[in-house]
Amino acid sequence: MTESKNIVLTGIRPTGALHIGHLVGSLYQNVEIQNQGDYERMYGMIADAQGLTDNFDNPDKVHENVMEVALDMLAVGYDPNKTALFIQSEVSELTELTFYYMNLVTVARLQRNPTVKTEILQKEKFNGGVPVGFFTYPVSQAADITAFNANIVPVGEDQLPMLEQTVEIVHKFNSVYGDTLVMPRAVVPKSRIAARLPGTDGNAKMSKSLNNCIYLKDSADDVAAKVKTMFTDPNHLRVEDPGNTTENPVFLYISVFAKPEHFAAFLPEYSGYDELAAHYERGGLGDVKVKKFLNSVLQETLRPIREKREEFARDIDKVVDILREGTKVARVAAEETVKRVKHAMKLNYFD
Ligand code: TRP
Repeated sequence: MTESKNIVLTGIRPTGALHIGHLVGSLYQNVEIQNQGDYERMYGMIADAQGLTDNFDNPDKVHENVMEVALDMLAVGYDPNKTALFIQSEVSELTELTFYYMNLVTVARLQRNPTVKTEILQKEKFNGGVPVGFFTYPVSQAADITAFNANIVPVGEDQLPMLEQTVEIVHKFNSVYGDTLVMPRAVVPKSRIAARLPGTDGNAKMSKSLNNCIYLKDSADDVAAKVKTMFTDPNHLRVEDPGNTTENPVFLYISVFAKPEHFAAFLPEYSGYDELAAHYERGGLGDVKVKKFLNSVLQETLRPIREKREEFARDIDKVVDILREGTKVARVAAEETVKRVKHAMKLNYFD
């Protein structure tokens, strides 16, 4: 039994299969926190309703990806005995809280939210206008967090503005209606490089629409093919040429994923990353050799994940049961919060 009073909430938008950017950007951290066990309760939410805010015209995509993401989460080590895995839209209290919190946020404040701002600019489909639901999703995220009294919210760096917005909403709520909501704190991965893994094409972000992702469910052959065609230093033409390792995704991936035992097994002539990078920068080390090493590292990293994923995928009924049970647990907690919130707001006529 743990003495800890922490409540941890993690959330993922199911708009595509998860990739190695998610792995280092948030999933490893979430599973580590889960396994350290310093909490009273931990939740893993699949944010399908949020996924719809920028995919309202594509319900099939969100629907299908709920199961994909559930499989990915289980495959990387989310453990249903430790974490309540649940589906956001099945906890309707979340939409209720969102409606109340909307009174506490100004339009100008949402317009300044950096994540919302960049996403609006990135999404060409918003040329027809930004849906109100998308614009206000930071408010719904505050509902997700406070509904479960989460005080610890492990997120990728891109989510920090969302947490800031939640903190403001909690402050405002508590000062207007009295101390009701728990103040959350974001926890981000320690490694700055890992927090934002570039795509295989060298683009700053790994993203489905750029077709530059290595997915957790990719076959061994897919991974090998993707590594083979990865962007490296375009000026490193001949083996003898000095190469750049800092803007080179192959080296970035190696620095993030390669462990000492990978060097020992696949590249014993180098003591580790520093020696390998120094050789490349000096000249005399070819891309083919480096990519072959990266491929071995990624195969070792992804094989156990893929195998576990396939195991769960063979028993989808069991996965549905896991989600159903987790959703029950989540609903009980959210119901209790809505009661408290409505009471604080004096929306309690029949008490
Ligand atoms: N915005 C998160 C993402 O894009 C998903 C999310 C929804 C979330 N609600 C949350 C994350 C609450 C943390 C807490 O992946």
